[in-house]
Amino acid sequence: MQEIGVIGAGTMGSGIAQVAAQSGHKVWLFDTSEAALDKAMASLNKIMARLVEKGKKTQAEADAIISRVNVSSDYKSFANCGLVIEAIVENLDIKKKVFAALEEQVNADCLLASNTSSLSIASIAASCKHPERVVGIHFFNPAPLMPLVEIVPAVQTADENLKKAKDLIDSWKKVTVVTKDTPGFIVNRVARPFYGEAIRIYEEGIADMATIDWAMKEIGGFKMGPFELMDYIGNDINYTVTETVWTAFYYDPRYKPSFTQKRMMEAGYLGRKSGKGYYNYAEGAKQPEPEKNQVVGEAIVWRILIMLINEAADALHLGVASAKDIDLAMTKGVNYPKGLLAWADEKGIQNVLDGLDKLYLAYHEERYRASVLLRQKAAFQKNFNVG
Ligand code: NAI
Repeated sequence: MQEIGVIGAGTMGSGIAQVAAQSGHKVWLFDTSEAALDKAMASLNKIMARLVEKGKKTQAEADAIISRVNVSSDYKSFANCGLVIEAIVENLDIKKKVFAALEEQVNADCLLASNTSSLSIASIAASCKHPERVVGIHFFNPAPLMPLVEIVPAVQTADENLKKAKDLIDSWKKVTVVTKDTPGFIVNRVARPFYGEAIRIYEEGIADMATIDWAMKEIGGFKMGPFELMDYIGNDINYTVTETVWTAFYYDPRYKPSFTQKRMMEAGYLGRKSGKGYYNYAEGAKQPEPEKNQVVGEAIVWRILIMLINEAADALHLGVASAKDIDLAMTKGVNYPKGLLAWADEKGIQNVLDGLDKLYLAYHEERYRASVLLRQKAAFQKNFNVG
């Protein structure tokens, strides 16, 4: 079993190290901060103790997993690794320096991966002498619990290295999808309207947050409502992802961030972690009641759903990933009750298209332009009397 290196022992790195160790690998966990390494090991010990307590692991299994994770403060530890995954601060210049230095210490067939959420893998790979061995391996938080991993080949990545990376992560019992090296990959691109359109509906005074959350859960079948979920993710993180995707798409209005969320971030109303976000998390705080109006609820769900379907369709149209992987990504990465493309078929492509065109006609905003793929599919189905 090959050795695995992880650089950055924060939220993601420590989770990835746990996943690799649980799959039987000897792991080298590197960080420039000793405190971060101590914290990661303490957290691993705690998680394992809890799994033993719950009867999910035996004491011997837990001990073996912990013993496979070795902390390191020298890249030389990576000399025998088959893969090193970087999960440090989201800063291109720092990542580039790390990859250039790292490459000097690993063997010739070691894969180098980045867990970046928003930087291009091509730009990171460009810092290496052998960019063909660099690939994106994007886990979701928390890495040990979320099944999805997006595998992102850069333009430089060799096919055999893409396959090696995918096979390895598959062997960790993760659900892998392959995505083009484009902003937000699959999940962080396609999911944008879940938040953005919900905020827009709120800003227009169509419904309040509690009602929108109620509708999306009770009528839409989503596990969490958009506002609850933004509070859970953190309004700072969610806002930054939106702004990054919008900027990376050359300010495409489809991804435009909202002032509502920006102000929440500026005010420090970050959500659960700060005790207040869209909702108040203080003990005993009174929670707003939704207005359980079925007609309004259905209209809310439909508007957000068709915007999500539009993103999924456009991602497929532009070859970001296969239809199967786009649907898998949203069900396994963000727990959607159904894949969006399958959902589109169920609702009828023409109905989805009509819904989007109605919004476009009403607002005259680029935000509501329908993907040409939906138009082509609807026309095809009409001409051939199918669907
Ligand atoms: P974090 O802030 O929890 O951890 C980053 C760690 O990297 C810290 O322990 C820090 O000491 C260390 N570090 C910083 N510079 C370093 C360097 N030059 N060399 C070695 N270690 C260094 O960050 P988090 O949230 O774990 O994110 C890490 C990466 O994973 C980022 O690229 C982020 O975009 C990505 N990501 C984050 C997700 C999340 O939900 N937090 C989800 C998926 C990807």
